[in-house]
Amino acid sequence: SKKAFIFDLDGVIVDTAKYHFLAWQKLAQELGIEFTPEHNEELKGVSRVRSLEIILALGNVTATDAEKEQWLYQKNQDYLAYIENMDASEILPGVLPILEYIKAKGQWIALGSASKNARPILEKVNIMHLFDAIVDGNDVSNAKPDPEVFVRAAQLLGATNENAIVFEDSVAGIQAANIAHMTSIGIGDAKILHEAQFNFNDFTFIEPSFIDSLLN
Ligand code: G6P
Ligand code: MG
Repeated sequence: SKKAFIFDLDGVIVDTAKYHFLAWQKLAQELGIEFTPEHNEELKGVSRVRSLEIILALGNVTATDAEKEQWLYQKNQDYLAYIENMDASEILPGVLPILEYIKAKGQWIALGSASKNARPILEKVNIMHLFDAIVDGNDVSNAKPDPEVFVRAAQLLGATNENAIVFEDSVAGIQAANIAHMTSIGIGDAKILHEAQFNFNDFTFIEPSFIDSLLN
């Protein structure tokens, strides 16, 4: 039966994970909190609010709700400045051919992202038309590793969780897919994403025959 191929956005389809990192790092620096690329792995796939909580906990910083609101706003403004002039050249290598192959095979394609900026980004890089369903940070209340974002995407398409395949660059996202009994495919460092059922460094390593093997 028809499968639902669910894609995370940041760090899977587009190279925006680096911009989230830079924007968080700037804030952490201003707050005097040490924030390394290793710390950043914990933030991938995680909501904006939860990300700030993790950073503040790293520095043992307590803050009022008003301060937190201000910092979340500031981080997003910095992030928006980074992505302002984004175009199709920031689609990660190998992603477009795979999206088009899945489409040509008559399968479903969905977005499952924690980002509230997901839709404008899909428009900027001109791939909105490839998606049969979009679920993003505006649609869900539970952040990954809660599987809500992926379960909602599968439901919108009328697919069972078992017929859903998730592409993720974050530990939290792989855990979410596994919790929902979806097929989990890690994109990135296999050591970090060791909980994934399959792992590829990037989409250039994914052959059409691998996609075919998921259709049986
Ligand atoms: C994705 C990214 C995270 C980001 C989150 C929220 O999951 O991996 O780094 O914090 O989305 O994104 P937003 O654009 O709403 O701040
Ligand atoms: Mg991601």
